[in-house]
Amino acid sequence: MSSNTPAIHPVTSLAPGTGHRVPPRSYLRTDADVLSLNGQWKFKLGPTAAGPDADAPWETIEVPSHWVLAADDRYGQPWYTNIEYPFPVDPPFVPDDNPTADYQRSFPFSPRPGHRYYLRTQGIESLAIIRLNDAEVGTVAGSRLAQELDITEHLREGDNILDIRVHQWSAHTYLEDQDQWWLPGIFRDVEILTRPDGGIEDVWVRADFDLVTGHGILDVELRTENFPVTLSVPELGVTEEIDAPTARIEVGKVQPWSADVPRLYDVTLANSAETITLRTGFRRVEIRGAQWLVNGKKLRLRGVNRHEFHPEKGRVFDAADARAGLCLMKRANINAIRFSHYPPHPELVAMCDELGFWVIDECDLETHGFWLCDWRDNPSDDPRWRDAYLDRVERFVERDKNHPCIIAWSLGNESGTGANLAAMSAWIHARDPHRPVHYEGDHEGSYTDIVSRMYLPIEGMEDLSQGVGPRSPEHLESAGRYAALAQRPMIQCEYAHAMGNGPGALREYEAAFSTLPQWHGGFVWEWRDHGLARGDFYAYGSDFDQDFSDGSFVCDGLVLSDGTPSPGLHDLAAIITPIPLEIHQRQLTVTNLRHDGDTSDLVFNADGLPFDVPVLLPGESAVVELPGGRWSPVVTVELKEDTAWAPAGHVLTTAQELAEEQPSPVPRGAEPLSTATAARIDADGLLASATLAGPRLTLYRAPTENDRLSGFGTYLEGSVEATRGAGVPGPSNAERWHAQRLHLLRRRVLSVTRTDTEILAVHRYAPPSSDAWVDVTLRWREVDGQLLLDAAAVPNSRWKDIWARLGLEFTLPNTGPLPVRWYGTGPGENYPDACAAAFVDEFAGEASGLITDYAVPQESGHRADLRRLTLPDVELTTYGPRPGFSLRAHDERTVAAARHSSELPESDTWHLVLDVAQHGIGTRSCGPDVLPAYHLRPRSGEWHLGLRL
Ligand code: GAL
Ligand code: MG
Repeated sequence: MSSNTPAIHPVTSLAPGTGHRVPPRSYLRTDADVLSLNGQWKFKLGPTAAGPDADAPWETIEVPSHWVLAADDRYGQPWYTNIEYPFPVDPPFVPDDNPTADYQRSFPFSPRPGHRYYLRTQGIESLAIIRLNDAEVGTVAGSRLAQELDITEHLREGDNILDIRVHQWSAHTYLEDQDQWWLPGIFRDVEILTRPDGGIEDVWVRADFDLVTGHGILDVELRTENFPVTLSVPELGVTEEIDAPTARIEVGKVQPWSADVPRLYDVTLANSAETITLRTGFRRVEIRGAQWLVNGKKLRLRGVNRHEFHPEKGRVFDAADARAGLCLMKRANINAIRFSHYPPHPELVAMCDELGFWVIDECDLETHGFWLCDWRDNPSDDPRWRDAYLDRVERFVERDKNHPCIIAWSLGNESGTGANLAAMSAWIHARDPHRPVHYEGDHEGSYTDIVSRMYLPIEGMEDLSQGVGPRSPEHLESAGRYAALAQRPMIQCEYAHAMGNGPGALREYEAAFSTLPQWHGGFVWEWRDHGLARGDFYAYGSDFDQDFSDGSFVCDGLVLSDGTPSPGLHDLAAIITPIPLEIHQRQLTVTNLRHDGDTSDLVFNADGLPFDVPVLLPGESAVVELPGGRWSPVVTVELKEDTAWAPAGHVLTTAQELAEEQPSPVPRGAEPLSTATAARIDADGLLASATLAGPRLTLYRAPTENDRLSGFGTYLEGSVEATRGAGVPGPSNAERWHAQRLHLLRRRVLSVTRTDTEILAVHRYAPPSSDAWVDVTLRWREVDGQLLLDAAAVPNSRWKDIWARLGLEFTLPNTGPLPVRWYGTGPGENYPDACAAAFVDEFAGEASGLITDYAVPQESGHRADLRRLTLPDVELTTYGPRPGFSLRAHDERTVAAARHSSELPESDTWHLVLDVAQHGIGTRSCGPDVLPAYHLRPRSGEWHLGLRL
């Protein structure tokens, strides 16, 4: 180096880290001392990599935390981008504006001679420079990876001062471009580990399950210089002295581990200096041809993608909240998790072992922003970054290797492709040949073991299954490659984008996963909305003072930011139940789709009364006659006893036979209209009573985010054949509706005729500047003291595009909470392609509770097949074809204009919409649009409503 070359600033260094780095090891429970340094630290922040002003006073901050989540924004704000880097793509450089914090804390210590001491950090975003007692001990990169530094030489008797300088941006940020908030800080634990002289440095217990004998085999790898090490598994009566770094111990008959029956055994490893305890599970993971097997049986992954997220703490781990989330997953029949897109806090992995999930553990790696530069200079294929890639893979695999829940290692996410990824995979294959390697970006399958895709439409899944690639010309030369891929197991590592209202068409996906032989299921994107609690609302990207952001795209979960399950989660739970029920003419077919475990833990009820179903082994079905009672009892499958994740009585499946029920006949005849009734119908032929008014026609809904976004193709612009795998570009639903001005329908009264027995009105609704219209006939009559409305809507032939809905809207005065009872589908909202959780019953609630508080206000609350609706002053009965209903305090345009529900104005009106039809929901916010079967093309419709006011 010539003397005038400036030294590389750590911020721009590609080195994975510096200092006395301890080779990566497992996260283990040990009897050796662990000193937590979590708690209050001194803190100050500066604007550039030069750090805070040396004279600036110290403030205090909690460790772990993110400084941008401190109250009152005093240390800056969070920033959300999906793909884009928040700075120029100029690796390894980052802008001069680089928030840099100094953390300091002191602690008393008494080092003991002969022992070594490691400083362990579990997560610092993004680059940390660590000094102890004024001496530099090293730099740590890899924001969500553990790092240990040997600090033995720097520790002193008495008071010690630890300084950590954290730069928000560094060269390593280029490897951490996941779709999430940018949240700098020391956000996981900081500890000092005592390493006793002669201790056990690392352990790997691989617990294999012999499918033929049912025996367990422990393959043990030890890093210590102090033998013997005694291994014991008290429950199995096993005690073995181990004298060498590796050992194979047969332990006789064991119960295997699976996500359904997560049987764990406590293992102790002890030598004269240290005792380590861990929990292991016996299972064998294999790939045979296109089958991915655990314990000899094909996996069916019914999974979700899980980020570390808490609405107040960001990515700081909150054990109670995380466990509650996992229990909610179990209760929703979810059996698999992909750690997107970095390893979580290590305690979470242990929870997955214990509660039972098939886990794909993923490395902290994403370079998605290079895609926007056509992948030029992508680190994944640049030799200068190779060490950083290999360091990351080693650190994440070594930390988590003991966990039975992990059934595959994932190299990262959306990082293009290249030699460094291939090298990571080769490293894993050499280190852990017993678990397959996953990486979605290896589309050609050149260095990974599982064919993985995201947001692939069903016909694309069919094509891959048949050895056919995307039907676009540039892929044709790889036809041979696709034939080879069809010999491998396939998953969708992401599908069904759960943003806002949706996702739709989960049932179709589940059917494809269950029938196409190579497919093993998938992981819904994603588990939880990442809204940050700010006063009375949850904030997303555009709520902060940043120059640009990806808005509400950070809220795309099955669970809302506050932890409330969304209707999409209920729909998913109903579709992926491991105990599906089918009822046909009172014959109930029960199937056990569990990987493991019979049905003896379950109770079967019809309308709350238990009935017998034979105990079924996995894969078995039985047909039983439903017990007597009403025509369509609600049949439930419930837990008999409490489990670790749900109380006794928790419902796994609900089903009902509905096909047989005939619509109730429309009352005939007409009695002379009473004067009171006649007076309630105004000159235009509309009801104008004090408690109910209307109706007017509506063809519009407040667009969902699936309606608004159009990055993916649609089935509206071409045949399914043409859309295979990719989709045909086209405007969004919302653009189509707005272009047709469905939100601006104007009304003209064509006629109103009054006789003794009826009032007949004909209204024409049409958008401005259009010659397309819908004629609505309203016929009012009276039968048995009930006011009857027979309504019909008939469009002319000038309509060219889809509608959002075909509905009649009434209004009611809003004077406060409105109790509602209805006989129809419920309990939750449901749409034509998202209705699996709905069943027919009598439900009751409060009107404001009928709407889901999505991160962005949008269409919500529709419930199909209404029979009767009872409000304090109105009873409404439907006859003939049953409409759906929704009841909401704001009209569609008001809802569509709001960015947060907290912005919606006080309302003096309830809007009751009775829909003959709604357009499907789909998942086009990131994935396929509404399937053709759920399109609402212009059509006519009829309503027959009985009113008692
Ligand atoms: C995928 C990505 C996820 C997330 C999702 C959209 O492309 O892997 O991290 O961005 O799309 O929400
Ligand atoms: Mg991405």
